[in-house]
Amino acid sequence: MLTDLTPQPPDKILRLMEMFRDDPRTDKIDLGVGVYRNSEGVTPVMRAVKSAERRLVETQETKAYTSLSGDPAFCRAMRDLLLKESVDLDRVAVAAAPGGTGAIRQGIELMRYADRAATAWVSSPTWPNHLTIAKYLGVPMREYRYFDNATRDVDFAGMIEDLKGARSGDLVLLHGCCHNPTGANMTADQWEAVAEALAGTGAIPFIDIAYQGFGDGLDEDAFGTRLLASRMPEMLIAASCSKNFGVYRERTGALVAIAPDAGSKPLVQSTLAYLNRQNFSFPPDHGARIVQMILDDPDLRADWQAELEDVRGGMLGLREQLASELRMRSNSERFDFIARHRGMFSRIGATPEQVLELRERHGIYMVGDSRINVAGLNSDTVPVLAQAIIDVGI
Ligand code: LMR
Repeated sequence: MLTDLTPQPPDKILRLMEMFRDDPRTDKIDLGVGVYRNSEGVTPVMRAVKSAERRLVETQETKAYTSLSGDPAFCRAMRDLLLKESVDLDRVAVAAAPGGTGAIRQGIELMRYADRAATAWVSSPTWPNHLTIAKYLGVPMREYRYFDNATRDVDFAGMIEDLKGARSGDLVLLHGCCHNPTGANMTADQWEAVAEALAGTGAIPFIDIAYQGFGDGLDEDAFGTRLLASRMPEMLIAASCSKNFGVYRERTGALVAIAPDAGSKPLVQSTLAYLNRQNFSFPPDHGARIVQMILDDPDLRADWQAELEDVRGGMLGLREQLASELRMRSNSERFDFIARHRGMFSRIGATPEQVLELRERHGIYMVGDSRINVAGLNSDTVPVLAQAIIDVGI
């Protein structure tokens, strides 16, 4: 058996991490994997996380199992952070999952469990793991147009046209905010139009929200999620705490399923628990408990929000600086989209050859589709990147 395995191509983003690590140049710049870094290049443990962990060590008396859906207090806190009052909360089932990726996996599993013929629709382009998970699970998959390479904005007409092809019971994966890999996001009006288009087909939205608080703010970034929750009879949400709480390796996330009515919620909740049991039994608890402590404690929460705002503001400042450096150096406004985009990522529009040249000649690492992680920059490296972009002729 073990010698007959099919080798899989390495994950492109994770491979880039290794290549960067192995590069001996001291002035190299890592704009690859989507991990927040401060101006010193460090991914810090957030202050509120440290405080909550200290408190947990002192007060936790057992590590016995909780529930298959995870700590109920965490599930409630996540539900409220994501949805506020946008929907009748008696319709909302929640299960903790190992990170946002675990929640995506469980959501696609849920679709397959409900209807083997249902299709998962993903944006073109999307986070590569969406594609590989759906492929691995053997579910039918289709892409809808999302990004317009010419305008660096959402190809909204193409998106709506494609989504009209979804059928009842299909799952339409949408990035809740801070689209990965493009950084191009929908406007409020466009979210409205998506709600209408999906309602017309009977397809079910599945929001992947991995960067809440990294774009325009915690509530602003949940706008589309809450709008759809208020309109759609059924909906799934995969939420990640990796980025906004900085608890990457703790694997903290949740799958939320909005049932059509309160009466069907118990069936949905027990199915989420059943699917957890089949895949990993109980979800990880440490990160979830930390997140719950922060969300439920007014002081910790205020401190977390303040630090998250600093992180967000820092990324916006870097976007502005990069756009302005490029405006100056290119004598044009063609890179202004970088200031318009939100979240960690922007796709800057380099060819694969230019991406290679940036890596080999300038020691600047970005994903092959020319996605840059803005949080990998600081005010000193922004001009270096801007000059390199001009030098390779983008
Ligand atoms: C990314 O897109 O870089 C992040 O979500 C990290 C990952 O696991 O790929």
